[in-house]
Amino acid sequence: MSVKEMKRILVTGAVGQIGSELTMALRARYGGENVVASGHRTAPGPELRDSGPFEFLNVSQRETLEAVVDKYAIDTIYHMAAILSATGEERPHLAWDVNINGLYNVLEVAREREMARLFCPSSIAAFGPETPQIDTPQETVLRPTTMYGVTKVAGELLCNYYVKRFGLDVRGVRYPGIISSETLPGGGTTDYAVAIFYEAIKHRRYTCFVREDTVLPMMYMPDCIRATLMLMEADVDQLVHHADFNLAGLSFSAGELAAEIQKHLPDFVCEYAPDFRQQIADSWPRTIDDSAARAEWGWQPQYGLAEMTTDMLEKLGQKHAEGTL
Ligand code: SER
Repeated sequence: MSVKEMKRILVTGAVGQIGSELTMALRARYGGENVVASGHRTAPGPELRDSGPFEFLNVSQRETLEAVVDKYAIDTIYHMAAILSATGEERPHLAWDVNINGLYNVLEVAREREMARLFCPSSIAAFGPETPQIDTPQETVLRPTTMYGVTKVAGELLCNYYVKRFGLDVRGVRYPGIISSETLPGGGTTDYAVAIFYEAIKHRRYTCFVREDTVLPMMYMPDCIRATLMLMEADVDQLVHHADFNLAGLSFSAGELAAEIQKHLPDFVCEYAPDFRQQIADSWPRTIDDSAARAEWGWQPQYGLAEMTTDMLEKLGQKHAEGTL
């Protein structure tokens, strides 16, 4: 595959949990003017708005995507716009439209313009109840039981098809649940692992929507951003896989997370009231084997439970003191 330079970048879903911090990291690296942030409806915050271009577009309406791509002569897309698992169960048709038709539009627009590179993330939701839950291997059963998971498996296959059939340089990882202190996640099953911190700081109390013994693969945002940039800058000749890399950070139960927070805030109380998201969580892996990512592009996570918890509480505590939480 020929290697082309990434000069003008578009981030879709730039107002979302990962997109907002990824955009800032890309702007720091490639220059604010060279990284176009885009969102569907939600207006960008001041940091995103003032550090480079911002455009509204709807990935499932191809002409709105094409207009922005052509206006800025985009050659690289980080396609972060998606409907997550819990919203996907409530609105399966919307999940299909955004996650499948949106992705197809991104791939086609990129193929026609011979773009340099694309990042299209998958998720641990690509796995299902028949997948081995401990050290889930890179190559394994992909039979998800959520619409979100269905779109992620189809998305991985479609991206890998574009690599093989059209020589388009598409890359992606199966993100675990992402924990962060800047932008809240929306509509995911792993959202409790973020909400618990906000509620602990604000009210010293949280009612968790999965059982205490629920273990899921997670990752702290600095590791998530680093992994994304590392994969996109990796030498394409070193890659055997493309759009479906397993990626591990840390795994813990909801109870272990609550106990870790209690080490800092002894009066914090966590209660458990599982809802429909428990079933989704139960269908996903507990720990992930990411040896392909380690071997092919040198991945290694840095944050464990203790470091992540300390950093989250420090950052959110500061925002709370400033009255911005
Ligand atoms: N965090 C996502 C979700 O819960 C998993 O990819 O939907």
